[in-house]
Amino acid sequence: MRTEIDELRALIRHHERKYYVDNGPEISDADFDALMKQLEALEAASEAPIPPDSPTQRVGGGAVLGTRLQHRNPMLSLNNSYDEKELREFTERVQRLLEDAPVEYVTELKIDGLGVSLTYENGIFTQGLTRGDGEYGEDVTDNLRTIRSLPLRLVDTETVVPPVLEVRGEVFLPKDCLNEINVQREAEGEPPFANPRNAAAGSLRLLDASITASRPLDIFAYTLNYAEGFESATHTESLENMKRWGLKCNSHTRPHKSIEDVQKYYEYWLEKRHELPYETDGIVVKVNQFSQQRELGATSKYPRWAIAYKFNAQQAITTVEKIEVQVGRTGALTPVAILKPVILAGATITNATLHNEQEIQTKDIRIGDRIVLERAGDVIPKIVEVLTAERTGDEVVFDFPDRCPVCGKPVQRTETEVAVRCVNVACVAQLKRRIAHYASRNALQIEGLGPATIDQLVDRELVRDVADLYALEVEPLSKLERMGVPSARNLVHQIEQSKTAPAEKLLFGLGIFHVGETVAELLIEHFSSLDALSRATLEEIESVDGIGPQIAESVVNFFSQNQLLLDRLREAGLQCFTVVAESTRMEVSAATDSFFTGKTFVVTGSLEGMTRSEASKEIKTRGGKVTSSVTGKTDYLIAGEGAGSKYVKAEELGIPILTEAEFFAKL
Ligand code: IVH
Repeated sequence: MRTEIDELRALIRHHERKYYVDNGPEISDADFDALMKQLEALEAASEAPIPPDSPTQRVGGGAVLGTRLQHRNPMLSLNNSYDEKELREFTERVQRLLEDAPVEYVTELKIDGLGVSLTYENGIFTQGLTRGDGEYGEDVTDNLRTIRSLPLRLVDTETVVPPVLEVRGEVFLPKDCLNEINVQREAEGEPPFANPRNAAAGSLRLLDASITASRPLDIFAYTLNYAEGFESATHTESLENMKRWGLKCNSHTRPHKSIEDVQKYYEYWLEKRHELPYETDGIVVKVNQFSQQRELGATSKYPRWAIAYKFNAQQAITTVEKIEVQVGRTGALTPVAILKPVILAGATITNATLHNEQEIQTKDIRIGDRIVLERAGDVIPKIVEVLTAERTGDEVVFDFPDRCPVCGKPVQRTETEVAVRCVNVACVAQLKRRIAHYASRNALQIEGLGPATIDQLVDRELVRDVADLYALEVEPLSKLERMGVPSARNLVHQIEQSKTAPAEKLLFGLGIFHVGETVAELLIEHFSSLDALSRATLEEIESVDGIGPQIAESVVNFFSQNQLLLDRLREAGLQCFTVVAESTRMEVSAATDSFFTGKTFVVTGSLEGMTRSEASKEIKTRGGKVTSSVTGKTDYLIAGEGAGSKYVKAEELGIPILTEAEFFAKL
């Protein structure tokens, strides 16, 4: 028997839905408030406990945050495309994998907010998680409850709500309120949110749910991720069901039979998106049939059945505030433009590399200049143009230093290369960078050995080269600033662990001039162990496919000059000196012809979907060749995030550059 109180709750839920989900209120705000007051009074007078899905229960006490919980299945990200060509490559790949079966696509707006997962049990909202790292998310249930368009209880319709349901969607702040919050934050001396996603995340992760409640967060559900005992044939059908159950889905979803229609949808929203009350950063193109989605599957990062097609407002104008010079591990002096912070492609950009002295001169970049910053795909931002017309005359030409900014020793300029170098082997800037490189993820992967720790280790002369790391002990380490015994123990453990790293990681980690990851792999693949490589002659090294004379010379020089360091590493117990590297040996199938067969590739920057070495293996198994430097012989450069000098070189030589998405499509 439904009591008066139940009836009232149902009535309020109905009006909440009309107002917040359907945008079509049936009663005035005052009448709605009166109903809420009435319910509060009845609940206060009643002995019965208040159920968590009562409309009065949106704001509880403080929020419980910080619990990390595993997602039912990973919350993947979306691969990006930026133009019609990339979109076509996506659809061609889909067609190929589906052996040219007819495919229907659905397009949606890509809402710029924060991805979340919502679980309903028996129709009641029981758990909400952020996307987190995709595998584990943060429990934000209490704060999600404050979102008025998120139903605390689903409505049973002719399609009965499954007993367990998990939907995924995007939480966002409407544009006008985002602006309002930023104005307020600036007035209070707090930095404005850099982008809509940060604003949504910041609001959702507040410890005080009542503040979250004061931020008019909203949500669109975009995926029915799990529905116990319930099947839909298509994505559009599942969206229809979600709407029937009372979930808020975006209304601009459209099915398309052809890619031309998808392109039209994109162009329409490219122009009209400014009229929307929320931020969108592109559209999402999805294969509609679930059976086809399953057939296509996913990589570890992205589904193969969907792609984001981004609106590329990837340019921004800002000012060069100063130019700093950084010293790299090989002593190269790299000028960096420190910029007035500006939002570009969803991230706040505060600096841009100027690569070298020549680049500053060719582009005539001066301190105080207004410049155009561009970010293409996932590549690091670069200065594409100086707005010389905006010069006031106060701009200052940058004098490239003649001395190392860290050790003060004179720098060296040579005819053969553009880089200006500090050639002082004892320069602490170089040593710090060498240690950081040694400890980095793609080298020996010593977690916990960050720049702040390295600074102290070098400054206190606890470490003079990488072999010294293996003599570090917990006691003295724990005395470092921001360290303590547990972190010191962990660091010692991590250093110990690094002793089992494979030879190619150590070879890369040693930071030998011209020996990047690919070269290190090629060398170990050929020589099998570091010992064998260290005994190899110049000619033997040069004979390895993909290794040129410059690299060979650099390797031979390194081994002849660093025998002591290598002996100390061996004595410290690094296993890879003697262990034959099996893992790097691989079969090259000369089998079928592919796009890659017979072509030469260079992989640079970091890829999101795989490591560089995995990418190299994929290329090699398809009959392609991977080399380390961009030359006239390179057929393609594959550029991931953070691509730098190789990207510039490829552009100069007119070598085609593949983005990660394009590369995946070719695979
Ligand atoms: S579908 C398997 N649809 O964009 C991934 N995502 O950059 C399925 N997003 O993590 C995601 N609007 O948080 C999908 N209509 C939409 C979306 C959308 C925004 C977010 C989502 C995702 C991110 C990827």
